[in-house]
Amino acid sequence: MSKLMIIGCGGVARVAIAKCCQNSEVFTEIMIASRTVSKCEALAEELRPITKTVITTAQVNADNVEELTALIKGYAPDAVLNVALPYQDLTIMEACLAAGVHYIDTANYEPENTDDPQWRAVYEKRCEELGFSAYFDYSWQWAYREKFEKAGLTALCGTGFDPGVTSVFTAYALKHYFDEIHTIDILDCNGGDHGYPFATNFNPEINLREVSAPGSYWENGKWIEVPAMSIKREYDFAGVGMKDMYLLHHEEIESLAKNIPGVKRIRFFMTFGQSYLTHMKCLENIGMLSTTPIMYEGREIVPIQFLKALLPDPASLGPRTKGKTNIGCIFTGIKDGKEKTLYIYNICDHEECYKEVGSQAISYTTGVPAMIGAMMVTEGIWQKPGVFTVEEFDPDPYMEALNKWGLPWVVDENPKVVE
Ligand SMILES: NC(=O)c1ccc[n+]([C@@H]2O[C@H](COP(=O)([O-])OP(=O)(O)OC[C@H]3O[C@@H](n4cnc5c(N)ncnc54)[C@H](OP(=O)(O)O)[C@@H]3O)[C@@H](O)[C@H]2O)c1
Repeated sequence: MSKLMIIGCGGVARVAIAKCCQNSEVFTEIMIASRTVSKCEALAEELRPITKTVITTAQVNADNVEELTALIKGYAPDAVLNVALPYQDLTIMEACLAAGVHYIDTANYEPENTDDPQWRAVYEKRCEELGFSAYFDYSWQWAYREKFEKAGLTALCGTGFDPGVTSVFTAYALKHYFDEIHTIDILDCNGGDHGYPFATNFNPEINLREVSAPGSYWENGKWIEVPAMSIKREYDFAGVGMKDMYLLHHEEIESLAKNIPGVKRIRFFMTFGQSYLTHMKCLENIGMLSTTPIMYEGREIVPIQFLKALLPDPASLGPRTKGKTNIGCIFTGIKDGKEKTLYIYNICDHEECYKEVGSQAISYTTGVPAMIGAMMVTEGIWQKPGVFTVEEFDPDPYMEALNKWGLPWVVDENPKVVE
């Protein structure tokens, strides 16, 4: 029996909340708290007739630590699940510490204003020392370790699909199939078609920032950075078929490189269609992906925010998207002195997800693990004082929960590897 506060009421939150309501034996009470309370109330109205979970709602600005702390203290949940934006990670962690409750999220910290000189100084030092230039990294949240340890509280970072399930797959492979893992290739394939020439599956600003940035991977103890979209492979995905995929920087590479002993190389690939890439390149070339404000007819506008206003709302893609996703990891390594290869993946169908919870598979594959991570913490299955990523816990109960709650996985002991 758990009481959970959920912050944010967007695409991912909708699925996480629907799943908590399906799991009402565990989540007896939830509060949905977000910036726009009318969205929380509308979702609560939709779910109340079909769940035993008691749902309350509240308006909150999660950038404001004091306001948020007061709300958490008043509701007194067992934990807070952050499914707002990565911009709010640190303020929500602060409020959890002040109120004495556990913390869970799905994406590591990224600043909203990357021109902030204080943040920029730390960022530039990190780029130089570590060798990757992504705007997000774990250092900001790992800095809270001692505070969470002293408070006896758990902070569970990155319980979405990637990061999240992909790291649990890694811990599971290491526990049951390998003595040593040497390489990890994380493959994220979206074979869905929404019928538009160009649209993003989640928040366009976060999505386009990620995809247009340089790619990087971990090899022999260091980061190697390459120009955006410069490493391309083809792969024949079960349930989807042949797709082009491109190497991207991704946050779980950073924590897996620390937590998987003896790992020599970790890469992340995502599939993109030619139409998406051509549109993105064109928008980039003409300056529409810029985050720097410009003056237009006496008014300041940020090009990427203007673009966001023109693009289809990701939430509106749900009813139109057909096809499947296939996300998983290919491992190579050693078991009992012999070389071994293994692939663990999940296939998810966009239309089935829409039928079940009114969202497409991108939100579904993130929202289900967000609920499962919250359950692991509030039920005391994954609790230890400090700040952790998901591969640092026993993967078995989480893997069982994936099968039960809509993301069944497949183990292939003879997969084709990526060159
Ligand atoms: N690990 C993974 O696999 C994975 C995959 C996809 C996404 N994610 C992460 O999931 C999270 C949610 O993504 P999404 O696509 O659901 O985003 P979204 O649809 O844009 O929803 C974000 C929600 O947060 C709310 N919010 C924003 N700023 C706030 C503030 N200051 N105070 C209170 N609420 C605030 C928004 O309120 P309004 O309604 O007022 O705008 C909105 O309801 C993000 O952190 C994203 O990076 C993780």
